[in-house]
Amino acid sequence: MHDKRFHPEHAARLHGDQRQAELPLATLFELLGDLHGQQWADLGAGTGFATLPLAAAVGPAGHVWAVDVEPRMLELLSERLRRAPHPNIETVCEAAEKLALATAIDGVLTVACWHELDDRVAVLDRCRRLLRASGRLVIVDLLHPDDAPAALSAVGPPSGHRLRLTTVVDELAAAGFNVVLHRDCYLAHYVAIGHKM
Ligand SMILES: C[S@@+](CC[C@H](N)C(=O)[O-])C[C@H]1O[C@@H](n2cnc3c(N)ncnc32)[C@H](O)[C@@H]1O
Repeated sequence: MHDKRFHPEHAARLHGDQRQAELPLATLFELLGDLHGQQWADLGAGTGFATLPLAAAVGPAGHVWAVDVEPRMLELLSERLRRAPHPNIETVCEAAEKLALATAIDGVLTVACWHELDDRVAVLDRCRRLLRASGRLVIVDLLHPDDAPAALSAVGPPSGHRLRLTTVVDELAAAGFNVVLHRDCYLAHYVAIGHKM
C-alpha cells in the first residue's frame, strides 16, 4: 500500500549537493513573497529540507508545523533541531490525510511528497479545512517525464510514481482551489499553488 513512500535509509540523499542545485528554495520563497509572521504546515517534512527555510521565512513571530507520517524521518529532523534550535518549528507525527490543527493557518507547503500520498483527495479536503480564507496550498514536486522529457532528474522517484501536471491541476481545481501553475521555476520540478476560494 505504501510502495511509493520514501525510505528513511535514503535520507542523506535529500541533502545532497545535486538536490540543492536542482531545487534552490530561495526561488520558491521569492515567488511566495513576504511570509513574515505567518503560520504554515510543511506536509511530508522529512528531515526538514523545506521546513528550515520556511521557518526562516516566517520568522520568530510565525510558526511551522513539520508533519510527517514516518517517525524515523522526524527523528532526523528533531536531531537537526537539537543541534540548531528553531523555536518556531513544531514536529507532528501524523498522516497528512488525518492532520488536524487547532488554528486556521496561512499556508500548506509540500515538497517532493505529493506523489507519495495514499489519498490526495483526502489531503486536499484536509488542506481546505486547515487553511484560512484565501490561504495557499503550495505543491512542489518532480515533473513526470511526459511533461519534461529532457529535464528528468536522476535523483528522485521513478517515473511511474510521478504525477502528470494535468492530474495535479485538475485535482486541485476539483477540490475547490484556484490554481496557478509555475512550470518554469525549476528544470525538474513544478510548483502548483492552490488558492483557497
Ligand atoms: C521524498 S521525502 C521529501 C521530504 C522533504 N519534504 C524534502 O523535500 O526533503 C517525502 C516525505 O513524505 C512523507 N510522507 C509520505 N506520505 C505521507 C503522508 N501520507 N503523510 C505525511 N507524510 C508523508 C515521507 O515519510 C517522507 O518523509
